[in-house]
Amino acid sequence: MRYFLALFAVTCVLVVVIAGPRGSASRKPPIEIWNDMDRQLKLRPQAVAGFAGWQDGRTSRQWVQGTVPRHASIQVRGTEVHRFQDHPAITGREIGKTNFVDVLPVPVTEQLMARGQERYNIYCAPCHGAAGDGNGVLKKFGHGAIPSLADELRVKHPDGYLFWVISNGSPSGLMGSYASQVEPEDRWAIIAYVRALQLARLGKPEDLPEPLRASLK
Ligand code: HEC
Repeated sequence: MRYFLALFAVTCVLVVVIAGPRGSASRKPPIEIWNDMDRQLKLRPQAVAGFAGWQDGRTSRQWVQGTVPRHASIQVRGTEVHRFQDHPAITGREIGKTNFVDVLPVPVTEQLMARGQERYNIYCAPCHGAAGDGNGVLKKFGHGAIPSLADELRVKHPDGYLFWVISNGSPSGLMGSYASQVEPEDRWAIIAYVRALQLARLGKPEDLPEPLRASLK
């Protein structure tokens, strides 16, 4: 037993000495038991290839004619908007400023509302509830502090701010970002639908057009 303990201690020390400094910075080459393919012959993208590359000396190939970028541009009121552009539809802010846009920059159509409803029910309803009242299914599982989207504060938020929340999450970080799941076009669709949910909860009969008002009675 004594030998075992001594051997065990020596093994522990050896493991720490050999494997411990992995990842720390040093000018000396590390002891590598498994080198995990750290060093290998390869060509870096966008580099000059030298003798090993293609005949034109590049390591990467040029785009095939007619290649469409992964994030194709979007059409906003008849103009083409690119995703890197300083445009309200992409940033939620006024051009050249940090002010949020008050009203969404895309036309509200029946199609946009339908898309917004669908996306909202997928990405937002589990927390904020199908009616936007904050009573989503997650509440039943104990996720508290989910606000209603129809309370005064959220009604007063400009559309650009709602866009910012979907893109970056809430300022406190309690709600995460949905930028990777929801494309900018769909964020505006969701915002249009959230406004409809707010109206459904807070609207007055006077808000309805005359012919529809009669049908309430
Ligand atoms: C995982 C649960 C969850 C999902 C899904 C979720 N939210 Fe939230 N949301 C929260 C919580 C929690 C807060 C409160 C955050 C806080 O107080 O900082 C919040 C806050 C908000 C606010 C208010 C922010 C503010 O500053 O007043 C808006 C607007 C909002 N969410 C919209 C959305 C939209 C639109 C979606 C769908 C794309 C969505 N949320 C999806 C949990 C969620």
